[in-house]
Order: sequence, then structure tokens, then C-alpha cells
Amino acid sequence: MARTNFLILFGSFTLFYVYQLIFVVQGKLEFTNIKCEVIDKKFCVFQHCFLKSVNRTYKYFSVHVHFLQPPVHSGSVNFVLYKRSNGLRPFLFNYTMDVCKFLDNRTNPASQYFYSLVKDYTNVNHTCPYDHDVVNWWNKKLTISMPVPTGRYLLKTLWISKGILRAEVFNYFTLTD
Ligand SMILES: *[C@@H]1O[C@H](CO)[C@@H](O)[C@H](O)[C@H]1NC(C)=O
Ligand SMILES: *[C@@H]1O[C@H](CO)[C@@H](O)[C@H](O)[C@H]1NC(C)=O
Ligand SMILES: *[C@@H]1O[C@H](CO)[C@@H](O)[C@H](O)[C@H]1NC(C)=O
Ligand SMILES: *[C@@H]1O[C@H](CO)[C@@H](O)[C@H](O)[C@H]1NC(C)=O
Repeated sequence: MARTNFLILFGSFTLFYVYQLIFVVQGKLEFTNIKCEVIDKKFCVFQHCFLKSVNRTYKYFSVHVHFLQPPVHSGSVNFVLYKRSNGLRPFLFNYTMDVCKFLDNRTNPASQYFYSLVKDYTNVNHTCPYDHDVVNWWNKKLTISMPVPTGRYLLKTLWISKGILRAEVFNYFTLTD
């Protein structure tokens, strides 16, 4: 991901700390934990949600959501990134992606960034509606450009449909050089 793209990306965030732009790192991302929580039990269930160590260098995570009222015509994901050290720091960014609108025309640069991170690891790869389960998996050692310093992070994702919070997924990870 080129640095210029980050500037475009950041241009569209409403809140961020300016100093973070200086600390663009090409770091290794490693997931340390994942938690999934259903908020609306009538809307969906998690068939599974786990992070497994295959061996010392290789981890695998998988989240499988089963929708109880398909098809799903509207969906947004609210991404909130926190840095962790002695508890959670105030969030670094707060971005909401309208998944269905984005998949229609794929023009929003910030959404393009988030989508580029997950597109090879999800079956959310066609336009809405979704009448099937959604599966996300990740089984690679990742090297990733992140516009944030090294450290421990929590990426909270809130899954919203028709304006109602349906589920939350907490992704804990570390970034190293
Ligand atoms: C760890 O497991 C992966 C997947 O099975 C394998 O490709 C890789 O070679 C293993 N690495 C080590 C150091 O054993
Ligand atoms: C993120 O932004 C949304 C929409 O502006 C807001 O409702 C939500 O409370 C914010 N989240 C945090 C953690 O501040
Ligand atoms: C693409 O989607 C965005 C977000 O909904 C919208 O503002 C924009 O007008 C759309 N562009 C096109 C070419 O449809
Ligand atoms: C979407 O992802 C599924 C699961 O990996 C794959 O079988 C399918 O070919 C993908 N579709 C497109 C349009 O990329």
C-alpha cells in the first residue's frame, strides 16, 4: 500500500492524531486473540470464531457468521482502532464502512483500504444481498503497511444492519517491525 493512499485514506477519517502520519511502518501484524459477540440473537449466530496456533510461526483465524433472517440487504461495519498499553487508549480512528454501497461501486478510498486487507480472506466479495453465511479467515503471516506505530492494538468491529447493532468482533493484534 503506497504512502499516498494512506494520505487519501486519512483525509477521509474524521478523527485521528496528526503525529501518526509520521510513523507509517511496514510492520508484521500478528493476531493475538479474537472474540465475537452477538448483540441481536434473532439476527445471527457465530458458527465459529477462533484463533488457532498451528505452530510457532503460523496462526489461523476464522469467523463464520450464520444469518437467521436472510437475505441481508444492508450492512455497515464500524471499525474502531485502539492502542493498548495500561488499558485502552482513546481510539486512533473511527470509521464506518457501508459494505453494500461499497461493493456496488468500490470508489470510497478508505473503504478500499479496509477491503484490500480482507478481500482475499472473505466470501463477502459480491454485491448485496447476502443470502448465505459469511466466512472470514486469515491464515498467512502478514506483512502490512499500517499508518500507526508498533505496539499492541484492538480493532473493534461493530456489525450494523438497518441501523441496528447486530454483532461485535474484537480483533487483538500486535505490530512489530
Ligand atoms: C507451520 O505450519 C504451516 C502450515 O501447516 C507450514 O506451512 C509451515 O511450514 C510450518 N512452519 C514450521 C516452522 O514448522
Ligand atoms: C464512532 O463514530 C460513530 C458515528 O459517528 C459514533 O456513533 C460512535 O460512538 C463512535 N465510536 C467511538 C468509540 O467513539
Ligand atoms: C458510490 O457510492 C458512494 C457511497 O455511497 C456514493 O456517494 C457515490 O455517489 C457512488 N458513486 C457512483 C459512481 O455511483
Ligand atoms: C468469493 O469467495 C469465494 C470463497 O473464497 C470464492 O469461491 C468465489 O469465487 C469468490 N467470488 C468472487 C467473485 O471473487
